[in-house]
Amino acid sequence: MAPPKSLLLTLLPLLPQVSAWGTLGHDTVAFIAQSFICNKTRAFAQNLLNDSSSSYLANVATWADTYRYTAEGSFSAPLHYIDALDNPPTSCNVDYERDCPEEGCIVSAIANYTVRVKTASLPLIERQKALKWIIHFLGDIHQPLHVENLEIGGNTIAVSFNGTSTNLHHIWDSNMPEKLIGGYALEDARNWAASLSTEITSGKYKSAAKGWLDGIDGADGVKSAMVWATDANARVCDVVVPEGAESVRGQELDGAYYDAAIPVIQLQIAKAGYRLAAWLSLIATGEVKMQKKHFGRMVARNGEDVMVREVRESQGLEEWMVEARRVRRAFGWNCGAEGHKH
Ligand SMILES: *[C@@H]1O[C@H](CO)[C@@H](O)[C@H](O)[C@H]1NC(C)=O
Ligand SMILES: *[C@@H]1O[C@H](CO)[C@@H](O)[C@H](O)[C@H]1NC(C)=O
Ligand SMILES: *[C@@H]1O[C@H](CO)[C@@H](O)[C@H](O)[C@H]1NC(C)=O
Ligand SMILES: *[C@@H]1O[C@H](CO)[C@@H](O)[C@H](O)[C@H]1NC(C)=O
Ligand SMILES: [Zn+2]
Repeated sequence: MAPPKSLLLTLLPLLPQVSAWGTLGHDTVAFIAQSFICNKTRAFAQNLLNDSSSSYLANVATWADTYRYTAEGSFSAPLHYIDALDNPPTSCNVDYERDCPEEGCIVSAIANYTVRVKTASLPLIERQKALKWIIHFLGDIHQPLHVENLEIGGNTIAVSFNGTSTNLHHIWDSNMPEKLIGGYALEDARNWAASLSTEITSGKYKSAAKGWLDGIDGADGVKSAMVWATDANARVCDVVVPEGAESVRGQELDGAYYDAAIPVIQLQIAKAGYRLAAWLSLIATGEVKMQKKHFGRMVARNGEDVMVREVRESQGLEEWMVEARRVRRAFGWNCGAEGHKH
């Protein structure tokens, strides 16, 4: 259950800073998914989460960003991203063997928690946590700077936005979506989700949306998550830093940069919500059944999931890649931006 608004407002300054799509992005992804999942999937999620409200997915969409700040949850901090050791803007790509280190990454986490949420022998609390992570990570993996190593996902590229000093990662997470929508309350997310859902059902995304489920395979979380990660990572080369990091460093990006980024942000949020609906359906029913469209049976054999790879240190990394990983571990997972607490 969400705390009452007055309580939330009181607590807000005390909450740790979240990274990855801010609250607005994650809640919007959750509401889009809610609008597409079928009744059986909704019942599955509402039961497991013990929440029959009209915001049952949105209510837990940012839990993972709070949990990772707790002592118990700190191990999950590196699971919010995969640091693709590629070379933007010349070449963008994600390589699971190269980029997912032994502490895990968002791709291994999606695979792991997809298996765990379906494992009936696990304690209820573990299956609940698995579902909450899936809801959150399906959002994060669509943020281009969560699938990119460059300058720690853009965290160390200082920029300004509407006169405020921040960094490139943060404006993709929060400043740009919030400028577009004008707020980050639950109702802002609900409204943004309604408009993007309409674009999927009958608007500008209608013809493309079916292709958004290409490569989805309920029996292979790594393969499916790699499709989504690769899709978002490509935007690093063509929209996030098309002329390289130096062309944006120190610049005011609330202008032409914002105008170019917004269509991509909207598209990525829409894809994330739609794919989350499909993924939850695969988990709950073994097939992709959507509320407003029916795509028939998809690949999914419950109980025969391919387990994630053995965790081990990657072999054969180039020296700069080893150094990039060392820098990331030293930096941690927190956002570089100060003073923007949501
Ligand atoms: C799904 O649930 C809604 C609301 O509870 C209900 O009105 C609708 O008939 C259900 N649809 C199907 C196909 O069962
Ligand atoms: C489910 O939620 C209700 C009310 O929010 C609460 O009273 C109940 O204890 C919860 N059940 C479980 C199993 O957590
Ligand atoms: C899967 O998740 C559990 C619970 O968070 C964790 O203990 C385990 O190490 C994870 N396994 C892999 C392979 O990621
Ligand atoms: C941009 O900055 C101006 C001047 O500080 C402020 O009045 C305005 O509200 C800001 N716009 C947004 C969208 O934050
Ligand atoms: Zn996150």
